[in-house]
Amino acid sequence: QPNGGNEDDAQCNDQGTVHLRNPNIKQLDHDILYHLALGTESHDLVKMFGDVKFVCMGGAPTRMEHFAQYIHSQLGHKLPPGTKLQDMKEHSHRYSMYKVGPVLSISHGIGVPSLQILLHEIIKLMHYAKVKDPVFFRIGTSGGIGIEPGSVVISEGAVDEMINPYHEQAICGKKVQRPAKLDLELAKELQSLHRADDGFELVRGKTMCASDFYEGQGRIDGAFCSHTEADKMDYLKRLHAAGVRNIEMEATCFSALTHMADIRAGIVCVAFLNRFEGDQVCTPKSVLTQWELRPQQIVARYIEKHL
Ligand code: URA
Repeated sequence: QPNGGNEDDAQCNDQGTVHLRNPNIKQLDHDILYHLALGTESHDLVKMFGDVKFVCMGGAPTRMEHFAQYIHSQLGHKLPPGTKLQDMKEHSHRYSMYKVGPVLSISHGIGVPSLQILLHEIIKLMHYAKVKDPVFFRIGTSGGIGIEPGSVVISEGAVDEMINPYHEQAICGKKVQRPAKLDLELAKELQSLHRADDGFELVRGKTMCASDFYEGQGRIDGAFCSHTEADKMDYLKRLHAAGVRNIEMEATCFSALTHMADIRAGIVCVAFLNRFEGDQVCTPKSVLTQWELRPQQIVARYIEKHL
């Protein structure tokens, strides 16, 4: 493997802190987490982040700001005394990051490249801050396959556009594949936190990660299209038959990198539409905004339970 070592090895050391499988890190005098505008020399990372237990990520900065406020309002009584919403935007060039006691809420932008950079630096941050057994969540939006719009999907694992269960990364001109695995026990526990009176359906299933919103997800309404409606329906049916219940743009990378780092991780996404019924997101923005709260509710319940 280009990064050395067996990628199936356990990553946590005896204390449960996050171990980095990169022998080069030891050679660094200090490490600059460039996109977070943090560093091992310039910041006391243990003091700033050592109490983190939950790292929650989602695409949009406003969604993650809202999640931080929501967590604060939901869990205020359970958080360490004096805990308040800390906006770390002034530190970060690119990603919005909020800290609410042991919860980090961070935006990752759209798609794998943006998320992947963040994951490298957040996993290193967890290591330097000596955080113990953190749990990572992606709280997102997606397109559903054969489910009611507004339903929430808890991912059991991710596949790419070719329905391969891995994240493929080109490293030094070679393609490296890493299993896109999620913690099934965590997925089941998240599902158990759904309540009969929640007012939405919740399903477990695989998530297909695409590198594009339009052609890459089989849509026929992009600026370009060389496939037919029948090709699209055939593809969506193949995905559904493989156990895929939603499509988004980050799941393979999120699953693979957290799995490699031996970090427990879950993906909870609301489905904005049922792709068997169309391509366009026609639901009014005000309704979508309400739907976006649904994955947040489930993850907040998990955090409350484990604080
Ligand atoms: N996000 C996606 O990637 N696809 C959708 O259809 C909706 C949200």
